[in-house]
Amino acid sequence: MYLTQSEEKALAGEYGEPLEIAYRVLLAIGRLGNAERLIPIKWAHVSGVSYLTIGDYGSDFLQRISKIKGTKFKVFTTVNPCGMDVENWDRLEIPPEYAEKQLKIISAYQKLGIANSFTCVPFQSYPVPAKGTHVSWAESSAAIYANSILNLRTNRESAVSALASALTGKTVYSDLHIDANRKPKFAIRVKFSSRRRLIGSVDYGILGYFAGKVTGGVIEFQGINSGMNLSESKALCAAVGTVGSSGMFTFGRSKDLECMDFTEKEYSNTFEEISDAKDGDAIVFGCPQMTIEELYQLSKDLIGKHFKKRCIVFCSSKVYDLARSRGYAGGIEKAGATFVRDSCADFTPLISSLKVSSVLTDSAKGAHYMKRVHGMKIALKDTKTILEQNLN
Ligand code: F3S
Repeated sequence: MYLTQSEEKALAGEYGEPLEIAYRVLLAIGRLGNAERLIPIKWAHVSGVSYLTIGDYGSDFLQRISKIKGTKFKVFTTVNPCGMDVENWDRLEIPPEYAEKQLKIISAYQKLGIANSFTCVPFQSYPVPAKGTHVSWAESSAAIYANSILNLRTNRESAVSALASALTGKTVYSDLHIDANRKPKFAIRVKFSSRRRLIGSVDYGILGYFAGKVTGGVIEFQGINSGMNLSESKALCAAVGTVGSSGMFTFGRSKDLECMDFTEKEYSNTFEEISDAKDGDAIVFGCPQMTIEELYQLSKDLIGKHFKKRCIVFCSSKVYDLARSRGYAGGIEKAGATFVRDSCADFTPLISSLKVSSVLTDSAKGAHYMKRVHGMKIALKDTKTILEQNLN
């Protein structure tokens, strides 16, 4: 792979250990993908923020590089949710020893120069660059959204490769950065026999989960309306990324692609695979984290009502502050829900600390991880049904 003179020097350690490691990572990925070169990026989105996901090894590494003089991220860098609400963790069943470890990770990232985003929907809170801009985003749901909905260009980065991109301001010119690789290879045709249409985040989550399982390349969805709302597109992207390795989808009607039908049968098989309980002891909304539009709708649906069981709502601080200033957050809290800010609905010890064995959620991705990480039984239901069945 071609490297410029200054990239060669960085690789040889002339600009310090963090850059040497970062270029080694990019070079290894580039060689694996037969990339010609590195390219500059405008935005890095780094995952690996929750202590539950990176543990002591990741935390020690971040702390070590953040203490090396002059080590700063070279481009605008946002970060994924962490494992707790940083301001309210002590009121939210987070063990102090966990909080201490989580705060060290956050402090290391802050020294490196992040935007304090702590979100998996970074496109909600920061201006999105022009179509075609090269970025380097970890967090599969966000990377798929960037490619498929925002027309940005990114590979599905890992925590390590996105960190290397943040440190260098570059990524490997391969895969979804290249026009020719952004063409669909496989089609999923939605073909219901009845007049039923896909509506809401559960339906799109089930479609995405199915699609992610059956193919790893760029997917062309056929037979669905590309005018999905934000919740539906967010759910589709998150679910495609939950299982399998696809990093992008398109909408179309190509006749020459290998194609698989998604009928009522595939829908119900996938639903049964994800949802294994009739009801849940607690409600979890916000995987991916809730947007301001979703909080507005939730606040409207909750007027004059009260939750019968514990309801946790995950969103970023930025979105929460906006929702509070507009009166949505107050309405949701009045109905008995608890906000957890800047945290991931699945990779937080809070879910295990709830002392429940089943959870109600509207997220296919949330269902997948809460089952595997916390051993929960899952009842997957759309938001409207959850509210109809669980409000006084
Ligand atoms: Fe976001 Fe965590 Fe779900 S990062 S997409 S809330 S698994």
